[in-house]
Amino acid sequence: MNQKIRKQFPSLARISNDQPFTFLDGPAGTQVPNYVIDAISDYYKTSNSNAHGHFALTHETDEIVESTRAKVATFLGAEGGHTISFGQNMTTLNFALSSAISGSLQAGDEVVITQLDHESNRAPWLALRANGIIIREVKLKTDGTLDYKDFENKINERTRLVAMGWAANIFGTINDVVSVRKMTHAVGAWLLLDAVHYAPHLSIDVQAIGCDFLLCSAYKFYGPHVGLLYCKPGLLDRLQPYRLRTAYQHAPYSIETGTLNHAAIAGVKASIEFMETFGKGKTERARLVSAVNKIHQHEIGLAQQLYDGLAAMKKVKLYGPPMDTTERAPTLSFLHKKKSSTEIGKYLGKHNICTWSGHFYAIKSTEVLGLAEKGGVTRMGISVYNVAADIDRTLEIMQQLG
Ligand SMILES: Cc1ncc(COP(=O)(O)O)c(C=O)c1O
Repeated sequence: MNQKIRKQFPSLARISNDQPFTFLDGPAGTQVPNYVIDAISDYYKTSNSNAHGHFALTHETDEIVESTRAKVATFLGAEGGHTISFGQNMTTLNFALSSAISGSLQAGDEVVITQLDHESNRAPWLALRANGIIIREVKLKTDGTLDYKDFENKINERTRLVAMGWAANIFGTINDVVSVRKMTHAVGAWLLLDAVHYAPHLSIDVQAIGCDFLLCSAYKFYGPHVGLLYCKPGLLDRLQPYRLRTAYQHAPYSIETGTLNHAAIAGVKASIEFMETFGKGKTERARLVSAVNKIHQHEIGLAQQLYDGLAAMKKVKLYGPPMDTTERAPTLSFLHKKKSSTEIGKYLGKHNICTWSGHFYAIKSTEVLGLAEKGGVTRMGISVYNVAADIDRTLEIMQQLG
């Protein structure tokens, strides 16, 4: 992982005010390599047409969409393309799913969510309170991890679904989803995982984890803005998503409304192929697993360098699990004793160091930990294209803050 990779990202070659960009805002959306950009524009140059018709261009569109489903399935360790649905983004898909699942719930049924989750995996479930569904919230601890004793308290025989994140986009915490899956399935409930922040950094095997639903978003792993939903085989066909009578009524199509963004879907496939180039192995799956592991090793090394540099600054207080935690996403958040996160974001921004300030939609966790009233935290995330010089530069500019 080096400058050669960085060169594949045209946006990172830009110079503004005589300075290059250091992009540490991957958790909000990564930069996109030429390979993916070309796949999107090639679609418009060649196959552009609607799906399911009777001429060559429409057949090509069908091929692109269906082969992308298969590619996503391999990426996620899923049973096949028939388990993968596309949507505008994760949030839209999750609202469609909550509405579809609500049809199979009764007043008094319970759904468990967490205080560590992004609002996109809270609001769609909190909305079900209007139907008499009871929502229980698992507590977040001050160290940025979830309270697993509280999962035991909150999951019971009335629980129908547990909706939780796999990795926290605010603190980089990796949640113990296997323990929660055991508790969830023991009472016959479904487990839904928000893997939006997990998918770019750690490899996923939905069958090994045993989740029932999993959501992620391609723009977090070098692709365009497309949401991805995995449903265990047979599950989506038991639900009633809103759909037109003219559309396919079965999985994986039944939850997809309107015409899909075919060009972006071509880009989703390319984004996974792009990651695959970093891996080794005889099968596509083996290459993808090894690629994501290699990306993770690179990212976590830089995250450690950044963490150590920030931890050495007296005015900085880091949040979330320490770097020596067994599994961690390369995402760091901190407070500065003298400057608000907005002031830090603006200062770094002036030097073309791209970070984010505030709550990142994980607003509940900032409220619970008393960070909201302080204006939230500064977040820095590492992606495949970051290099040691990015970290050196960021730490140097941070030092200037005093
Ligand atoms: C952890 C997490 N979940 C969900 C989302 C929402 O994803 P989308 O923008 O695709 O709706 C985000 C976006 O930042 C996220 O970081």
